[in-house]
Amino acid sequence: MIASERPIVAICRLLPAAGRDELAVAYDVREGGRGAGAEQWRELVAGASAIVADPTVPIDRDLLEAAGPDLRIVANFAVGYDNVDLDACTRRGVAVTNTPDVLTNATAELALALTLEAARGLGFAEREVRAGRWQGWSPDGYVGTELSGASFGIVGMGRIGRRYAELVRPMAGEVVYSAPTVKHDAEDATGARHIELDEMFERAAVISLHVPATPRTSGLIGEPELRAMREDAILVNTARGALVEEAALVRALHEGWIAAAGLDVYEAEPSISAELLAAPNCVLLPHIGSATKRARDGMAILVAHNVRAALEGERLPNRVA
Ligand code: GLV
Repeated sequence: MIASERPIVAICRLLPAAGRDELAVAYDVREGGRGAGAEQWRELVAGASAIVADPTVPIDRDLLEAAGPDLRIVANFAVGYDNVDLDACTRRGVAVTNTPDVLTNATAELALALTLEAARGLGFAEREVRAGRWQGWSPDGYVGTELSGASFGIVGMGRIGRRYAELVRPMAGEVVYSAPTVKHDAEDATGARHIELDEMFERAAVISLHVPATPRTSGLIGEPELRAMREDAILVNTARGALVEEAALVRALHEGWIAAAGLDVYEAEPSISAELLAAPNCVLLPHIGSATKRARDGMAILVAHNVRAALEGERLPNRVA
């Protein structure tokens, strides 16, 4: 790697032009590209002042070590930052930032889309049409579940959970949520009511997950939780795969403990077990919660602002560690 006069910004994979071009004005921007992996990242980050990561890039002690002493910031191109070893960053005096707010609408809208898609079996129905198996309108064809008047349960009442509550409110019979503390603002804005998770499993026809992946939330939904849900429940996960024990979910879907699931995230992305691929009543999307042009551009701009602030010694707009 040729020595650089300007601070190096190492983008481990890609960053939309909305952020990359701004960074390139002042810094030596190096991009790993879509297919880059651990080997390339170690070379790419050598001598970097900033690393731009994303949920597919584990930021661990080794990579921080490979970056060296100039490193000031890891700017994660995502709102979640479970891919980043925060303690290791803090120990080296490296700040960590994320990209909140700009992806709230996109992700909540996708959760709503998954909810409706799972309730009406749209993935299955569309595959039938494309495969030429549709025989025409039928009184008993492709019958799904109607959600008007249903009880919607939201696990986690942060930005995205709250936006989801706002979106479902017009059709919901009730909106209930679980969170470590009562969120009075969100209750006033959405009409949602705080309840314990156990009670939510008993009441809710839809359970949508909106909490980060942490040691505390890992495996939050396993066999006992799935068995406690209503038989007509729909589980929606646009947060992180680690929240749901996939093997238990596969059994829940095959054996009818719950009615359906809508998933955007998985335990070991991008690999999905054959059993989950074959599970009935399950909509599977490729981790696209924030994948709108508006959200991704907004995220890229936040990354650029955070990197610039770190390298110019200013206050970081979205610091998480
Ligand atoms: C994407 O998964 C994000 O956390 O923003």
